[in-house]
Amino acid sequence: MPRSEPINSVRGMRDILPGDRPLWRAAEKAAVDVARRYGYEEILTPIIESAELIERVGEDTDAVAKELYRFDDRGGRNLALRPEATAGVVRAYFEGGLNQAPPPSRLYLIGAMFRYDRPQKGRYRQFYQLDIEAIGSAQPALDAEVIELANDWLVEVGLRHLRVELNTIGDAKCRPAYLELLKEYYRPLKSKLHGDCQLRLERNPLRLLDCKVDICQPFKEHAPKVTDHLCDECSQHWAAVLRLLDGASIEYQLNPHLVRGLDYYTRTVFEFYPVGAAGQQDALASGGRYDGLAAAMGRPSTPGVGFAGGLDRVTELMAASGEEVIASPAAEVVVLADGDLDLAAAEVARICRTVRSVAVDYEAKSLRAKLRGANRLGARWVVLLSAEDAARRTAQLKEMASGEQAQVEWVDLPGRLA
Ligand code: HAM
Repeated sequence: MPRSEPINSVRGMRDILPGDRPLWRAAEKAAVDVARRYGYEEILTPIIESAELIERVGEDTDAVAKELYRFDDRGGRNLALRPEATAGVVRAYFEGGLNQAPPPSRLYLIGAMFRYDRPQKGRYRQFYQLDIEAIGSAQPALDAEVIELANDWLVEVGLRHLRVELNTIGDAKCRPAYLELLKEYYRPLKSKLHGDCQLRLERNPLRLLDCKVDICQPFKEHAPKVTDHLCDECSQHWAAVLRLLDGASIEYQLNPHLVRGLDYYTRTVFEFYPVGAAGQQDALASGGRYDGLAAAMGRPSTPGVGFAGGLDRVTELMAASGEEVIASPAAEVVVLADGDLDLAAAEVARICRTVRSVAVDYEAKSLRAKLRGANRLGARWVVLLSAEDAARRTAQLKEMASGEQAQVEWVDLPGRLA
């Protein structure tokens, strides 16, 4: 083999090591438990979608315009690694015929997403989301339901100090007139805005409201508010969502500048932050209603609402807030055999595995070194096997905590370990 430098992981990608997995598993389990409690069913969609599907739903979105992992495959297809799950789930909803069932379809997905963003703590190029979608219904009760579900999940994993920010951004009926007002307000200020915002002014003026750059901040306060320019339907929807959230005792902060980074939203938008943190990069979960998305994808017009929670951020915060997850040992029983007893050791392991998790130490090491290794694995028992024992189909069963040791027939091991 030629000698060469070792190859490390790709920038912005990271491994979730066994030591971290118990915390992740706790977050995932809570997600599944809460989703099921609300009647959501699991769906899996491919990580790779056609680039056009992703582009259609958000050409002015950072996640699409600047951060999309896009490539041509060997067949010349233009593909993308999904930057978020909603577009794929809505595609699958139609392609899989879920739209034939009585609405809404309540769906959840846990999986990896990809964005070519600048990596930093809490922001990775491959990251994981819990995605929740309720597709097929325009009822405001579903907006409140997904917000309550997000809240329940975060509380269940021990994150109790949360701030929920909430806004509405109108719909295709009332938003165009509001956007004109916003442009009129900002046009005389154009030269005072930072470069990106100058471009946004005509292309995507809503994004002026969530700009984080200092020089753009002073102008937000007097900008027209969308909530003052809603059509009757959007007003009623908004009032109903607030009433339902009050009924669920969810405390929220109205933020007229919350517009979200993805282009497909209509009406309700929301973000969950840990209390004490500020800024877009710290949102733990975020989402909203997307009644125009299906039509933008060339499907029959179909309303939907949902959110995605960031598992990387949630687990980081769980760890920081001292959330204890009792890690179960990698193996409860370790079989330690003398010399050349691989066959017998494997058989003993097979017998013990009927009741406990079992690992075999096949390495050529001293018994003391093997016992140290079993301890490190967190094993509760070791099964010691000598050549004489093996010949008699017996073994020494040792309980690590008490140090007690007894000779046991192989057939009796499951009973002693149960
Ligand atoms: P999003 O706000 O782009 O929304 O992402 C949702 C969550 O994913 C964020 O609140 C954050 O916790 C996490 N997240 C986003 N980017 C990164 C990253 N680079 N590294 C780590 N975590 C990240 C969506 O994706 C929408 N599809 C949500 C939705 C579902 N709306 C309706 N249905």
